[in-house]
Formats: sequence, C-alpha cells, structure tokens
Amino acid sequence: MKKLFAMLLCATMLCMTFAALADYPEFTTIESGKLLVSTSPDFPPFESTDDDDNIVGIEPEIMALIGEKLGLEIEYMPMDFTSALAAAQTGKTDIVMSGVTASGETGEARKLMFDFTTTYVSITQAIVYKEGKDISMDNLGSQSVGVQRGTTGQIFVEDAFGEDIVVGYDTYSLVFQALQNDQIDCIVVDDMVAKAYLARIPGLVMTQTTFEPEDFAFGVFKGDSGLCAAISQALQELIDDGTVQAIVEKYNQE
Ligand code: ARG
Repeated sequence: MKKLFAMLLCATMLCMTFAALADYPEFTTIESGKLLVSTSPDFPPFESTDDDDNIVGIEPEIMALIGEKLGLEIEYMPMDFTSALAAAQTGKTDIVMSGVTASGETGEARKLMFDFTTTYVSITQAIVYKEGKDISMDNLGSQSVGVQRGTTGQIFVEDAFGEDIVVGYDTYSLVFQALQNDQIDCIVVDDMVAKAYLARIPGLVMTQTTFEPEDFAFGVFKGDSGLCAAISQALQELIDDGTVQAIVEKYNQE
C-alpha cells in the first residue's frame, strides 16, 4: 500500500513538472539547460559587478527568476555593450541583458539583429555634469559630450548635434572617469543610471533631456524563436504579478 502511494505520488509530481514546463513554448538554447547571457555590467542599477565580481542589479534579479521558471541555469559573459549586442546577434550567447532600448528607430534597427522580449521599464536620457556648471538641452550642442559607444545616448546626441561634439568610450565606468578628470563637459546616459552614478560619485548633478522616452527589453538570438516566446511569457508573468515593479522600485530608491 505504501509502495503504491509512493508510486502514485511520484507520478503526480512528474505530471506536475511536465505541466509546469508545458505552459511555456518549446525552446532550445545553445548549451542545453543553460542560458548564455552577454552583458555590459557598467550600468547600475540595471547591471553592475559587486566586490566579489558577481553581476548584480535589476536585470540579473529578473533573469534569475526567468531561469527558475524555464529550468535554465544562467551563465553570464561580461563584455562591452557593442560586443554584448553582437554576441546575441551571432549566437555566441542566447540573450543580451544590458538595459537594451527596444523602442523607437534604434529599437527597429536592433530588431534586425535579434528578437526582443516584452519590454518591462521606461527611461529617458539625462545629462550629467559637474556641480557649478550650467548645462542643459539649450547649450548641449556646444559641450563635449561623453557617451558609451553604440548606445542610444550616442545616437541621439549625434543625430541632434553632429558627431564632432561626441566622445565615445567602451564602458560607462570610463565615461564617468573622463568626466571626473575634466576630459569631457558632460555625459548623456539613461536617467536611472545617471541617478545611480550620482549616488556613488560626489559633486555631480543631472538634468533631463527632451529626447524621446525609451523602453527596455532583452534581445534574444534569432536562431530559435521558441526561446524568445518562452522568455517573454515568463517575463510577462513577472510583470503581471508585480514582481518586476517591486524589483525596479527597490533599486531605484537606493
Ligand atoms: N539603453 C541604452 C541603449 O540601449 C544604453 C544601454 C547601455 N547598457 C549597458 N549595460 N551599458 O542603447
């Protein structure tokens, strides 16, 4: 009797596991059981590295929950932003997690590189500069503006004011170093990220730009369409039950 009960219990549990997974579209990944994630971890509060070199922030928290839902182990491959996009385009990684803007003209162009999941948050570009200066949208065109290469910050400033005023760096860590060393007058960067750097570096201030608002998503390698649908579904569940908003708020307050 006990044995029969145990067998029945096992069978039920097996059914439950299959049912849970069957809720998602079928998908494959580059390495079975793993999700290879390219990321540029210079972008707090979305992704940065802690003292032990772990990748932490809003997006790793969301990614961990997506991994749990889909039964995938998350493996991060840190690199600069342009390389992180290219990795998901060429199938070196399954997905790019880097506060990637999926909206507007840039979003449309990036849709040729990879498939976007559901978007989950919105930001606007901000200008960061040293206290005491007076920089805004009105005089941005006469400043030297630091940006991370390949970002909407770079694209928007170049479209509005031309390439000559823009100085590109591979990471935002380098862009902020350049500002501190007076090698540039200001930085154009996603506002939530500006706020996070302001909290870390004294003597800086920020003001909003009038550039269009942007929506973030994850970019999935086009090789397997099931993967993007499965990740989007898992992400949508986390949006619907309030988890994503709670994570964003937690980091945005710090
Ligand atoms: N949202 C901007 C873009 O998509 C900047 C993203 C930069 N991300 C990063 N992890 N450094 O172009």
